[in-house]
Amino acid sequence: MYRTKIAGIGYYVPEKVVTNNDLTRVMDTSDEWIIERTGIHERRYAKKHEESTATMGAEAAKIAIERAGITAQDVDFIIFATLSPDYFFPGCGVLVQRLLGIPNVGALDVRNQCSGFIYGLSVADQFVKTGMYKNVLLIGGEFHSAGLDFSTRGRNVTVIFGDGAGAVVLQPTEDQDTGILSTHLHADGNYAEVLSYINPGCHGGVHLGTERFGYPEQEFGGAFLTQKMWDDQDYYPNMDGQAVFKVAVQKFPEVILEALKTNGFTPADIDLLVPHQANLRISQFVQRLLKLRDDQIHNNIQKYGNTTAASIPIALCEAWEMGKVKPGDLVCLAAFGSGFTWGSALIRW
Ligand code: UT7
Repeated sequence: MYRTKIAGIGYYVPEKVVTNNDLTRVMDTSDEWIIERTGIHERRYAKKHEESTATMGAEAAKIAIERAGITAQDVDFIIFATLSPDYFFPGCGVLVQRLLGIPNVGALDVRNQCSGFIYGLSVADQFVKTGMYKNVLLIGGEFHSAGLDFSTRGRNVTVIFGDGAGAVVLQPTEDQDTGILSTHLHADGNYAEVLSYINPGCHGGVHLGTERFGYPEQEFGGAFLTQKMWDDQDYYPNMDGQAVFKVAVQKFPEVILEALKTNGFTPADIDLLVPHQANLRISQFVQRLLKLRDDQIHNNIQKYGNTTAASIPIALCEAWEMGKVKPGDLVCLAAFGSGFTWGSALIRW
């Protein structure tokens, strides 16, 4: 068995900076409220008609590929994690494959929202450590601003999210002391609707009650996007923020400790924790609970908001560029979010 190492890492965030004060122009919110509840000062929004989840992913991928010392032609498998794909189908994996001119290789999309990068990393790890693939390109990308409710009705969700993408190239190494030590994946579908983006969708009203969506009486079809969904603007993400917060602060520490325990470590051994950037208050809670020093955790939600599947690779890459991740360091990644899904990965850099 090989170990899987991160051979190259990159990120791309759009140029357009949107401050909290910018949002007050379109909805009833304030800089103070957003900073106090989330820690976010600003986020980036992609350029309409020019950028997409796939194009941002491709930009991040180009950097990761170059830093891995390979070319796009060497990539032998693509994994793309996103909850805001360019198309309902096909997924962003094939779009990136086309954008980068990578011939013929498999492309898989991962639909695990905030935990998407960790899930993707775990899938990639299985392929790489068994020797099946030599250069797996894993991307997390989101174009949230295209699908948010910018009226006051959507403010509890909208102020949190930002756009961007991060990517890694994963390669096998024979050095058993470096690379991914373990990954840990969990889910609890009982919370599926607590943080969700339901319409348009093929749910057929199951579990949800057809009434709300106004399904037409015709015998076949017409249930994916109904007139009522359209009239009620019932096509935005929704979130019970407090419910998410409550479970997040339990599951983050739990899954981090699970990774540490599996490998015989304690929180004191972590050189850098890069948590999914859900909310600065959640990260700070986890930091306090695990008694981590400030230099043992990297947060950048202040600048980019919550970029869901992109948040871990963006934060990890930024930390690496700042010299906060050095060879031999014990790096822990952890995520929690919609599904609910959560997971962690422990890496010897
Ligand atoms: O990646 C995982 C994704 N999600 C998360 O991790 C989210 C976890 N949850 C959270 O981060 C927090 O629950 C939020 C930041 C979303 C909300 O903070 P909160 O302290 O839980 O606020 P709340 O939802 O209980 O709302 C408190 C008040 C309400 O007003 P009333 O009913 O007290 O009058 C809301 O209507 O704040 C109001 N509110 C806002 N006010 C100004 C909600 N959103 C906003 C807003 N600006 N953007």
